[in-house]
Amino acid sequence: MIRVGIVGATGYTGAELVRLLSVHPEIELKALTSRQYEGVRFDTVYPALAGVTDLSCEAFSADDVCNKTDFVFMALPHSLPMLYIPELISRGKKVVDLSADFRFNDPAIYESVYQPHSAKDLMKVAVYGLSEVYSASITSATLVGNPGCYPTSILLPLIPLLRNNLIDPNSIIADSKSGVSGAGRSLSLTTHFCEVNESFKAYKITTHRHTPEIEEVLSEHAGKPISISFVPHLLPMTRGMLSTIYVNLNKNVNGKNVGECLISFFANHPFVRIRPEDQPPDTLYVRGTNYCDIGLKMDERNNRMIIVSTIDNLIKGASGQAVQNMNIMLGLDETTGLTNPPFPI
Ligand SMILES: NC(=O)c1ccc[n+]([C@@H]2O[C@H](COP(=O)([O-])OP(=O)(O)OC[C@H]3O[C@@H](n4cnc5c(N)ncnc54)[C@H](OP(=O)(O)O)[C@@H]3O)[C@@H](O)[C@H]2O)c1
Repeated sequence: MIRVGIVGATGYTGAELVRLLSVHPEIELKALTSRQYEGVRFDTVYPALAGVTDLSCEAFSADDVCNKTDFVFMALPHSLPMLYIPELISRGKKVVDLSADFRFNDPAIYESVYQPHSAKDLMKVAVYGLSEVYSASITSATLVGNPGCYPTSILLPLIPLLRNNLIDPNSIIADSKSGVSGAGRSLSLTTHFCEVNESFKAYKITTHRHTPEIEEVLSEHAGKPISISFVPHLLPMTRGMLSTIYVNLNKNVNGKNVGECLISFFANHPFVRIRPEDQPPDTLYVRGTNYCDIGLKMDERNNRMIIVSTIDNLIKGASGQAVQNMNIMLGLDETTGLTNPPFPI
């Protein structure tokens, strides 16, 4: 059994990791860390998980985590993982980081939207954890930077189309909506019940930190710099994410070519489902699962493809994809521990 630790276990992505990993057949949970809940049983912090784990939370100590575990998930706010991960890696641990600290190839882009980076050498070593696209590199990675939730929903449908030169890279508009758990568990005015209930709003229009993450990856696959228009919205629901992506097709490309490209690209990737045209994606169909559902509809009058992509922001957008990456890093089947069927409703 692989011994696993979760640093920042009491946040939403950490708790989701506990839920998923507690039934994973190849691993054993050995350490859960938290500052606020040091010494408190995890099932006291999340009573829904009573009977699932009897572990208690402990304060983070690199020594303890290294002694007790072989594999570590970092589920902390950005800026902290870059301080802790170098020691874990130097002591032979494999790590998946759910924050933005190790998602970027170019430190200057990271520093332009986050803050100075103190482990730039490790940024070069880290592999971007979009599992379906980078699995060949993830297999031998010691450190994976797990993608952001919005980037996952936007990059999965667009990368195959860019690689096959089917779309105009200068025409991409992504209009995305997220459930409130995307903002994490700590209290803030913007996620206060009265601020989100009965509300639907756009935020950080053109300035969201996921924009440069999306653009860096798209540019790599297009072979030239790409700039997109990205508008995130906050939905008054707990979990789920839906991105509607508008893109112009290249000359002599039709809607059928786009559908065939995605079906063929994801043929051997069970977590990406291409929906029939008359059954567009719905956040309900992926809730609690590691699926990304993609729907396509050609706007013939305008020669524009409309792509709808849904994920559960806490699963394929965070902890599920992190477990998928762990599976790939450990040489396991990528679906291990992630095959619970979705709720039918
Ligand atoms: N929520 C999502 O949908 C989502 C999706 C993709 C990626 N992510 C990323 O995943 C990471 C975790 O997100 P989350 O939503 O789970 O956040 P969260 O709910 O706010 O949880 C953060 C966790 O980190 C711990 N923590 C906070 N400050 C700390 C510090 N200074 N030192 C040590 N531990 C600290 C917290 O526990 P204590 O305060 O008790 O220490 C808690 O366990 C973030 O980087 C986020 O951007 C989140």
